[in-house]
Amino acid sequence: MSVAHGIRTLGVLGSGQMGLGIAYVAALRAKVPVLLYDRSPEQVEKGLKLMDKLLAKDVSKGKIQDLEAKEARDRITIVGQDQGLKGMRDADMVVEAVSENLGLKQKIFTELSAECRPDAILASNTSSISITKIASATIPQGQTAASEAGQKSASRVVGLHFFNPVPVMKLVEIIAALQTSEATLNRAQNFAIACGKEVTTSKDVPGFVSNALLMPFINEAIMWLEKGVATKEDIDKTLRLGMNHPMGPLQLADFIGLDTCLAIQQTLYQGTGDSKYRPSVLLERMVDAQWYGRKNGKGFYEYK
Ligand code: CAA
Repeated sequence: MSVAHGIRTLGVLGSGQMGLGIAYVAALRAKVPVLLYDRSPEQVEKGLKLMDKLLAKDVSKGKIQDLEAKEARDRITIVGQDQGLKGMRDADMVVEAVSENLGLKQKIFTELSAECRPDAILASNTSSISITKIASATIPQGQTAASEAGQKSASRVVGLHFFNPVPVMKLVEIIAALQTSEATLNRAQNFAIACGKEVTTSKDVPGFVSNALLMPFINEAIMWLEKGVATKEDIDKTLRLGMNHPMGPLQLADFIGLDTCLAIQQTLYQGTGDSKYRPSVLLERMVDAQWYGRKNGKGFYEYK
């Protein structure tokens, strides 16, 4: 095992499509034991089923041997509901992959900073929320941001932004908060590389490089649909066949999740005040209708 990143045990919070994907690449490619926690036991069960399916598919395609799949599966330990975040005590790094909600993430990071070892890296897979804001939640009670304890705690927070589907997409975007130390950044980069990924770095701006560019494109496509410029099929086909995108923008929005797209767009709009990031009314209405895309069967398209 490469120890350049020093991660001997990884904690993953959230076993949805992102958290599960991160657990998968860490266990299979970086060969690191993973502690997986989700507050919903049903979600854990769903995640493990997906993990077994992905491993079996890799074996059937001859990409990995049976033994490698078994070893990867054995590296995953489920943290029980009775343990919660206390179960992350042995982790050298924890990656949080819960929903895009600043309050929830800050609460989790406050708790993690109290439960985890002081040298453990605390990473967020957020798609757009400020890593600096998340890091500030780790300052111990009674300390200031300038105190040694305050600086030390916040300096181990970093953004580690994976892309969906995690096993397939080659990139991890690394985001340094104002407080992130060089050592934290290097270890996070080395860990992403050990997971088989290429890395880029972005400053802590709303949406980082990836979503500050992607979301206006998706939003524009939704507005064009709203205006009746073309059908959804033709908008998607134009980008797929005309520009060689693997998915059209409306298909991609369904794939990411319309609720996630809206949350990212709201962060971009609120964080910059720039009207070019204002979410389209149609996207807002679709989320009001609980049409979240592929994850719950209905978005711009229907999924069985
Ligand atoms: N998990 C694991 N593997 C998957 C998968 C999944 N959910 N979906 C597809 N794959 C694998 C398939 O097994 C197949 O593997 P092999 O090459 O080994 O056979 C490969 O991906 C291609 O799959 P398919 O042939 O079934 O389908 P496809 O060629 O249409 O590719 C796709 C599917 C990879 C999803 C492709 O459509 C694609 O790249 N779409 C764009 C995805 C994208 O842009 N993702 C980023 C979204 S933004 C984000 O995640 C970040 C954010 O902050 C919002």
